[in-house]
Amino acid sequence: MNISIVGTGYVGLTTGALLAAAGNKVYCIDVDPNKINVVKKGKSHFYEQGLDQFVKKTVDEGSLIPTLSYEKSIPDSEVAIICVGTPSKGDGSVDLSYVYNSTESIARNMKNGTIIVQKSTVPVGTGRRLQKIISRVGKKGSVVSCPEFLAEGSAVFDSLNMDRFVIGSESEPAKQKVIKLFQSLDDYSRTLDLESFDEFATIYNKKLSKFTDIPFEDRIYSMSLESAELVKVSANSFLTTKISFANSIAKICDKVGADINEVMDGIGADHRIGRAFLYAGLGWGGGCFPKDTAGLVYSAEEQGVDFKLLKSVVDVNNAQILYVVRKAKEMLKGELENKIITVLGLSFKPGTSDIRISPSIKLVKNLTYNHAKIRVYDPKAMENTEQELNNDVYFAKDIEDALRGTELAILATEWPEFIEMDFSSLKKFFKTPNLLDARNRWPKEKVKKLGFSYSGIGRS
Ligand code: UDX
Repeated sequence: MNISIVGTGYVGLTTGALLAAAGNKVYCIDVDPNKINVVKKGKSHFYEQGLDQFVKKTVDEGSLIPTLSYEKSIPDSEVAIICVGTPSKGDGSVDLSYVYNSTESIARNMKNGTIIVQKSTVPVGTGRRLQKIISRVGKKGSVVSCPEFLAEGSAVFDSLNMDRFVIGSESEPAKQKVIKLFQSLDDYSRTLDLESFDEFATIYNKKLSKFTDIPFEDRIYSMSLESAELVKVSANSFLTTKISFANSIAKICDKVGADINEVMDGIGADHRIGRAFLYAGLGWGGGCFPKDTAGLVYSAEEQGVDFKLLKSVVDVNNAQILYVVRKAKEMLKGELENKIITVLGLSFKPGTSDIRISPSIKLVKNLTYNHAKIRVYDPKAMENTEQELNNDVYFAKDIEDALRGTELAILATEWPEFIEMDFSSLKKFFKTPNLLDARNRWPKEKVKKLGFSYSGIGRS
């Protein structure tokens, strides 16, 4: 099928490269010439594990066509997929200008009958407004809501192994065409030649055996436009509720001497609850959770619904950084000023260079505000962070450099290289051997035996 994808971010470029690899002709449109130039060279303009090999192969073969031009791509496309950003405004509402502008550009250039697939995360009711834009431009075409559930750091795996395919529209033929398009991706995942994608195969080594064996047709959830729009923001809000719940229980654990990991293993084993997203730590961040929770609270209010539960979930998350800062202060005998503190990890989670609303960055800012001297290191997010934190912190060359002379090391993002650190050989770099495990991933008993003071979140 010939398609266009508007927006070359995590969702757009991943979906585009994979649909191209699956045998479709995919135009990949962006308004930013710098991004398009990088993709033309067969690379992604952001770090996402395993993605570059797919981009390179499909650009080299000519099935993924990066372009700035709607005029060249849209008339040749049966389906146009919108994957542009939907940033949060100050009041929690969502800035839909990129979605509206791209819809208008698509509508002006499309042939009648083109299907517009809405993949950007939007408030409920947006699809209807897109329908009106198409009519206003004088064209006929259907709008389909097809929310994206991929997570950064596992975007390729998630796209090839969708646990559900949610699709909402008033047009049954439009739904069937979009289902056929994504069926091609699922078929492709079954025959994937892993030798050509060794980077992906290595990263996902353990997960590959977990490709679902449920047929694609049994994973399709066909519904109304409004329901599909609501699924995405509700799913993300529910996941944040689980995390804030775990963080709240962790505080009780700290008081009573229980271990949060043991408690969550115990409750997560209940198949009605599940263990996922019950990991206590520094709180949740990223490009989606903060924006989607704020957006849902705002949409609810617009409808006269006071979403008290979700507001509390957000409050708990905002307080989590302060909880970790308090712990740091306790470990440093009540003093943060002039203390040398190492923060390991800057991206909002491992596997990505993305620092949008990163809890680690919030932590660093809070500690520098308290006049601590901060040394930071991250395997992928240093460049992004240098612009964000400028001269306030020391950007270390590697883990050893980050730990040199430190009085406290904090695990802020659980990159494998930090979890698997050789504590016995690194101990000599510490001025005082204090470890604050803000992701609960360091081996508590082992490090204590090596002479470190250890504190986790709910693991006292
Ligand atoms: C999320 C959703 O998971 C995905 O389905 C959606 O499409 C986009 O939003 P993403 O933002 O990539 O994906 O990250 P995710 O893995 O969900 O993690 C979000 C944040 O929650 C991170 O800061 C992470 O550290 C934190 N988290 C996650 C926890 O603190 N504890 C957990 O148990 C899980």
